[in-house]
Amino acid sequence: MIVTKKAEFHATKDALANEEDNQINSVEFVKMFQLYTSAMRKVRTKLEILDDEFQVKYDHNPIHHMETRIKSERSILEKCKRRNIEPNVQSIQNTLTDIAGIRVICSYVEDIYAIGEYLIKQEDVELLRKSDYIKNPKQNGYRSLHLIVQVPLFLTEETVKIPVEIQLRTEAMDFWASLEHDLHYKTNKHIPSDLVIELKECADTLANLDLKMQEIKNKI
Ligand code: GTP
Ligand code: MG
Repeated sequence: MIVTKKAEFHATKDALANEEDNQINSVEFVKMFQLYTSAMRKVRTKLEILDDEFQVKYDHNPIHHMETRIKSERSILEKCKRRNIEPNVQSIQNTLTDIAGIRVICSYVEDIYAIGEYLIKQEDVELLRKSDYIKNPKQNGYRSLHLIVQVPLFLTEETVKIPVEIQLRTEAMDFWASLEHDLHYKTNKHIPSDLVIELKECADTLANLDLKMQEIKNKI
């Protein structure tokens, strides 16, 4: 079963009308959001098609569910500030690759690699970056497979290539990442080092569970 959270898409007339009030060009911003929303939809559909084929072929759904999101204007501007990027559409598009994001929650670890490989094998999908935080977990225990892919959009007058960030993870990895995100990631809260160690131990325990579940599945 695939449940997708619809991304918020603020291509409203209000945004266009407010152009003069904003420090950045709203019309350009709306155009940019439209492109990233379309690219995200395209990649999500590709993933749904792969999942459907697996269902028919192997009687198994590798994708448990997906979540999609477009980075809000506010988060984009905050990131520009953090990274010293000019807050205009041109430099944002040249620099940020996570404006469109898809989180793919898979049933088993092997599903992550299967879905990832089948996606990047497609001829209109270009892999820009792969970070395998499953084989090489982050120091804090974070695990996921991150892919940044670029897909073409065929528009009325041109074809543009738009990047989409994909995070593939199991439910166990997602469970940990969600809680850790609340506790830690991008907040100013300091977490004492003994708790950091405990959090890492939780991540490792969950990784062992994933391994065991995979072994059980492979035996059935
Ligand atoms: P950002 O500037 O945050 O996008 O990071 P990056 O460009 O260096 O990429 P990275 O692969 O490190 O992280 C991209 C995204 O993965 C983040 O925005 C989070 O959604 C997720 N992520 C990465 N590291 C962690 C982590 O330690 N904990 C949690 N909960 N999520 C993480
Ligand atoms: Mg990011």
